[in-house]
Amino acid sequence: MKINGIPYRSIWVSPEDRHAICIFDQTKFPFAVDILTLRDKHAVADAILTMKTRGAPLIGAAGAWGLALSLRTDPGNEAMEESASMLAGTRPTAVNLRWAIDRMLEKLRPVKPEDRYEAARAEAALICDEDVLQNEAIGRNGFDLIKDILKNRPSGKQINILTHCNAGWIATVDWGTALAPIYMAADSGVNVHVWVDETRPRNQGASLTAWELGKHGVPHTVIADNAGGHLMQHGLVDLVIVGTDRVTRTGDVANKIGTYLKALAAKDNNVPFWVALPSTTIDWNIRDGIKEIPIEERSASEVSHIAGMDADGIFRTVRLMPEGSKAANPAFDVTPAHLVTGLITERGCCAASEEGLLSLFPERS
Ligand code: MRU
Repeated sequence: MKINGIPYRSIWVSPEDRHAICIFDQTKFPFAVDILTLRDKHAVADAILTMKTRGAPLIGAAGAWGLALSLRTDPGNEAMEESASMLAGTRPTAVNLRWAIDRMLEKLRPVKPEDRYEAARAEAALICDEDVLQNEAIGRNGFDLIKDILKNRPSGKQINILTHCNAGWIATVDWGTALAPIYMAADSGVNVHVWVDETRPRNQGASLTAWELGKHGVPHTVIADNAGGHLMQHGLVDLVIVGTDRVTRTGDVANKIGTYLKALAAKDNNVPFWVALPSTTIDWNIRDGIKEIPIEERSASEVSHIAGMDADGIFRTVRLMPEGSKAANPAFDVTPAHLVTGLITERGCCAASEEGLLSLFPERS
């Protein structure tokens, strides 16, 4: 996607040094577009941990590049396995990270150590390219859904889509998952408006989704996380589309904390609730999302404090709570499959169920 007319991906090889990768520092959005150059696995792991780079597909791609960079200095078996575990352990919920590291290891284990670095670079680049193609296909499939909804409406009428967190192009290598259909609709002249949940505690909606949509010229309104149910009750939401960090083979969906409450409100108001994902987000080994998906617990300071720019243009962090009050910060929740209208994948749309997923991915039977 473009920033001020210049096309970017969310991760790329440094044009100055082929042994380094570049990412945006996403903790600086929307106030600055800062590009970071990462030269080794420690820098990549730190960027993932501190959420300078984030979003399920993007941390998969970053993890793959982190492993590749580690092999330049030590391509031996032991070091490779250790780097892989270290990188895979940085964030627990998004399965894309584990998936990408496993795919790299499977490719690299049979390769001679002296050839591993170049082989790893090629595989990491392939993971990135495939992510772009998958998300583009998700965009087309999701746009078909939007067209279906528009069929029964007067032409030109606004369609209101609600989204949670950030599942846009900066959460993937390009295009995004939940936002890809919205970009395609907007580019085709559909009168689309997006309700953007602010997404406390880290505010990925207010600071990232709003920034992305604004840069692309998509009309949007940021709302407090608690506003969605009210808007649905008043007929102001036609469709919800969210991304996900892990989907079980039975269609349960882990996504940013608060997603489950949006799904409940959508069910109560007959608003379709769709989840967009590349197949790299499906964990075929688990069936019960609530029992089996590990939920990341992040620092309480993300709840007790909030960061933003003050009236003088100074970036500040301020406390919201009394000193001495405790805060808890589960970062994701699980929406059970029965609350999900359907899944939008690169192979098409399906029911959120084992049967639905296997109809698109029969090789997983
Ligand atoms: O904690 P984050 O910002 O990495 O969480 C991101 C989300 O919850 C996204 O919805 C999900 O990763 C899908 S990104 C295409």
